[in-house]
Amino acid sequence: MLSNEKLEEIIKELTLDEKLSMIHGAELFKTAGVDRLNIPPLVFSDGPMGVRLEFHPDSWEKVGLSDDYITYLPCNSALAATFNRELAFETGSVLGEEARGRGKDVILGPGVNIKRSPLCGRNFEYFSEDPYLTKELAVEYIKGVQQWDVSACIKHFLVNNQETARLEVDTIVDDEALRQIYMPAFYDAVKRAGVYSLMGSYNKINGRFGSQHTHYLNDILRDEWGFDGLVVSDWGAIHDTREAVRSGLDVEMSVTPDFDEYYLANPLKKLIEKGIIAEELVDKKIKNILVLMNRLNMLDGERKTGTYNTDDHRHKALMVAEESIVLLKNDRNLLPLDKKIKKLLVIGENAEILHALGGGSAELKTLYEISPLMGIKKLLGGNCNVKYAKGYSRDIYRGNLDEKWQETSLDMSSIIRVDNDTEALEKMALLRKELREEALELAKAYENIIFVGGLDHVPGHDSEGEDRKNILLPYEQDILISELLKINPNTIIVLTGGGAVNMQKWINEASAVIWGWYGGMEGGTALAKTLFGDVNPSGRLPETFYHDLSECSAHAIGEYGNTDKVVYKDGIYVGYRYVDKFGVTPQFPFGFGLSYTTFECTQGTLDEANNEFICNITNTGDRDGKTSVLLYMKGKADEPVKVLAGFEKVFIKSKESKQVKISVTDGIIKGREYFAFI
Ligand code: BGC
Repeated sequence: MLSNEKLEEIIKELTLDEKLSMIHGAELFKTAGVDRLNIPPLVFSDGPMGVRLEFHPDSWEKVGLSDDYITYLPCNSALAATFNRELAFETGSVLGEEARGRGKDVILGPGVNIKRSPLCGRNFEYFSEDPYLTKELAVEYIKGVQQWDVSACIKHFLVNNQETARLEVDTIVDDEALRQIYMPAFYDAVKRAGVYSLMGSYNKINGRFGSQHTHYLNDILRDEWGFDGLVVSDWGAIHDTREAVRSGLDVEMSVTPDFDEYYLANPLKKLIEKGIIAEELVDKKIKNILVLMNRLNMLDGERKTGTYNTDDHRHKALMVAEESIVLLKNDRNLLPLDKKIKKLLVIGENAEILHALGGGSAELKTLYEISPLMGIKKLLGGNCNVKYAKGYSRDIYRGNLDEKWQETSLDMSSIIRVDNDTEALEKMALLRKELREEALELAKAYENIIFVGGLDHVPGHDSEGEDRKNILLPYEQDILISELLKINPNTIIVLTGGGAVNMQKWINEASAVIWGWYGGMEGGTALAKTLFGDVNPSGRLPETFYHDLSECSAHAIGEYGNTDKVVYKDGIYVGYRYVDKFGVTPQFPFGFGLSYTTFECTQGTLDEANNEFICNITNTGDRDGKTSVLLYMKGKADEPVKVLAGFEKVFIKSKESKQVKISVTDGIIKGREYFAFI
């Protein structure tokens, strides 16, 4: 590590041109280094579920070699559903080690924006509607990444909760909501995890753009919270040289190859030469860059090497996937299925398609991805005849996937939609009818049927740059599922996606329903193990699953999806905080998740000296299993009814009991009531 004096000396030796070259992109994911002073460039890569594939330095053309396949981890929503801090640490650690192995310095994740509405196109990249769950997992994830001499980059600061007009929408939000809901994950990342870097958002926050916001980046992040790491803009989020240079931003990145014309390149040089901007402002940014490099052992000392695609990484991806699956319904103990079955029908496109290479900047070139169909087949082996029928299709949308979307991502009008193409839509409806009829005909001959559907990463679903239009299942899946349940009421329904869908058309007829997220490269293995009982499900919903949008505060009392200004009238009443307060009964509540066994919890005691809540959990069923114990603090009359204050995941053998200590990481508030929920 170089001393502070040495860093100051380096800054003095740098010319203005050299300094400027360090504070903006010189490639799409890289700044310039200064060879003569042994300053390397800074190399970024997306996150958050793996290290992104390689692009050419100055075009969004993929390099396309075979060396950038990686471990594909479950998405952050899946990670949140595990309610398991250790798995968050392991996820971060895999990512950090692979980033280092691929020669990256900063991995652009985790994304910690609050899931304010199920419509947000990037919800799958985010953890939860709850700030406590988000921050607890983000802190561990960041520690995991950074132990590898790689910087995590927490994003997007601040209130990037919708994709509609994300580049310009003005988010009007009060201080109470910011402090209680939208800031905690960033705050704890700085204070507890010591995160080395942070990305500003595209959107405006109370009138000014997030990535160049003097108040939030200087007054709050740097002065109040004491953040001395690196602030990078989102790609193309800077709009004004003077504002940007005076804000707490250090590095401007963008999506165009006009690197010299970035706001912090030639335009800034001119302002400095004219004496309008003081060079000292640039020095501060250089200092932050050098401090980051020093922390990563880039300037001196032994830097960790990292590696990628190890057995251990794949095993970790599987562990997370296994604990993320949420059992929503299991009437008559229909699940788990018997492994000795001889015949099985699997229906649904999500059983078969691969998700890794989609979703926007979170896209990944995974070494492999086990689909649910492959997971089921490899678990059952050759003695079971597994028949597959597509049942529905998204083909028309798939054709619309734009490989180089990021190149034009700053131009919202560039999004081409097929929704208005009536001819294409009619053709599609016909094809779907054919696929449906074929699947339904087959279903008549099967006792065991698994349907796998849900969402995917096509634009307009779980994808960057666009929000979902509603929370209905796409591609007429509701019709197919309803018909299937009429033919065979024991059909198992599995849905994949980054957030709630409306299941009302068929949920009362279904006996077994599983929610599977995007489970990473081993997602199909984890799902199969759950379906056939090798894994006892232990995932819990990290967000409320609404029947429809009128139950979600952003839509009921707030605003969502406006293109000019969106006012967060819902304040702190987001997710279950709203549902509890306003007496809404959602489809499935926050924290919901069944198991193949049953647990009982005796209400515990508070140990104020150690900030712990201690309770006894008994596994009353006949299978071993894991469960999450959620600890809530009761609110006062003018507060949310309850807020999550702790959680702990435990494994308990059948018929055994365990004492569980739940740490109240923010500290027990005297005089408040706490209660556990399992
Ligand atoms: C996204 C960021 C991402 C960046 C670089 C932007 O479109 O909003 O989350 O890290 O691109 O790919």
